Amino acid sequence: MSKYILALDQGTTSSRAIIFDRSGAVISVAQKEFTQHFPSPGQVEHDPAEIWSSQIGVATEAMAKVGLEGGDIHAIGITNQRETTVVWDRETGKPVYNAIVWQDRRTAGWCDSLKAAGHEDMIRQKTGLVIDAYFSGSKIKWILDHVPGARERAEQGRLAFGTIDSWLIWNLTHGNVHTTDVTNASRTMLFNIHTQQWDTTLLQLLDIPASILPAVQESSQVCGLTAPGIFAAQIPIAGIAGDQHAALFGQMCIAPGMVKNTYGTGCFMLMNIGEQPIISKNNLLTTVAWKVNGQIQYALEGSIFIAGAIVQWLRDGLGIIRSSAEVEALAASVTQNDGVYLVPAFAGLGAPHWDQHARGTLVGMTRGTGSAHIARAALESIAYQTMEVLKAMEADAGISITELRVDGGATKNNLLMQFQADILGTDVIRPGITETTALGAAYLAGLATGYWNNLEEISKQWQMEKCFTPDPAQAAHRDTWISGWNKAIAAARHWAQL
Ligand code: G3P
Repeated sequence: MSKYILALDQGTTSSRAIIFDRSGAVISVAQKEFTQHFPSPGQVEHDPAEIWSSQIGVATEAMAKVGLEGGDIHAIGITNQRETTVVWDRETGKPVYNAIVWQDRRTAGWCDSLKAAGHEDMIRQKTGLVIDAYFSGSKIKWILDHVPGARERAEQGRLAFGTIDSWLIWNLTHGNVHTTDVTNASRTMLFNIHTQQWDTTLLQLLDIPASILPAVQESSQVCGLTAPGIFAAQIPIAGIAGDQHAALFGQMCIAPGMVKNTYGTGCFMLMNIGEQPIISKNNLLTTVAWKVNGQIQYALEGSIFIAGAIVQWLRDGLGIIRSSAEVEALAASVTQNDGVYLVPAFAGLGAPHWDQHARGTLVGMTRGTGSAHIARAALESIAYQTMEVLKAMEADAGISITELRVDGGATKNNLLMQFQADILGTDVIRPGITETTALGAAYLAGLATGYWNNLEEISKQWQMEKCFTPDPAQAAHRDTWISGWNKAIAAARHWAQL
């Protein structure tokens, strides 16, 4: 019987497991949403135990759906929501605190003080990152400073830190392996992307003991076997990458200049920049794209914190739709936004503004405004934020981007994709497989274990499903629309300071 690759895609709002065959086709999918905890405004937490139980649950379910057992799986690839921080006890395997999610803003004030102390340039040069509560470093510090006894235990070597990949691998191996890969490490604000090592100056600055850190490995490399009893057979864990890096790989953006945008909870645009880490002049991040066969590649990234999550908010927060799929029809029931703009700065603003204190703002309403305008403004906000990042990327790269490969749940939404092409004036290309995050993790695992021979073999599997081209009839409106958006952004940024 032929074997398959199992990709575990642990995202911000759901855990997913996807099984691929050798042709890169999806054989089975299972998905489970899990609880979001909002202890106070600006704070977002997950229960690490629920992350693990939902992830192992969907893995088992995806295999059972198509009658597969552990022995049918050649290797596992892991991809994950990045930056989200877990600290656990090495002895008991129990987390000392909930996972602090990437969207959490509790350390914004401390990050401001780091900026005020003049560390911005040094941190950007070493890590490729801007100082922001987004990254894991300040979250680890918060846990060590606030959980009684945590700092002492960490200093005694009794605690372990990990992003979600590390946490899953620890559990999959029953505590035998404490590792991460270069992509996840590059999101901690503790990792030097040039030397590819944890940086002692940064560890001192953030007061984090090195003993809690995982080993750092390549993205395509066997790190261990699943422990006996997890599946019916022990399976090699052979690929690890943060979800956006995995999506770049799954989209086969393997040559410098190629760009993808993933529409998930947030929206993350990455451009492959090759083997040299160029530091952005336009407020983008420089990040490790992946390390495969000893070869490192870097990417420029524009991170948008709220994209698909705005649709979830329309459903769960406002209650104007019952399911996410309903948003397209509701938005399409009006032909334009009639001047209504929604800036979803619920977690501050990421690229290119990096304003930790901006907050969600709805402007331009009149007596005629209804739920359809709000739904439309919500969808359009995803496209406008993407436009801002694309412009910054073009400025950094000194080229004009002529095609944008897209993936992620919201790319099913044709209205959004067409508006995206119209507002960018650029072709938007949706591939045949939009599960590119999981596919990228599967490719990384399959390459490490000989399931696929090389990049040439897998790059032939990428196929376009649909190209959205800019509608010439809309081009005349573009400047007016964009100027409305710019005013809305200014409002979201300024009102918090009034
Ligand atoms: O940096 C956060 C990102 O990795 C989250 O991805 O897919 O859960 O929105 P997603």
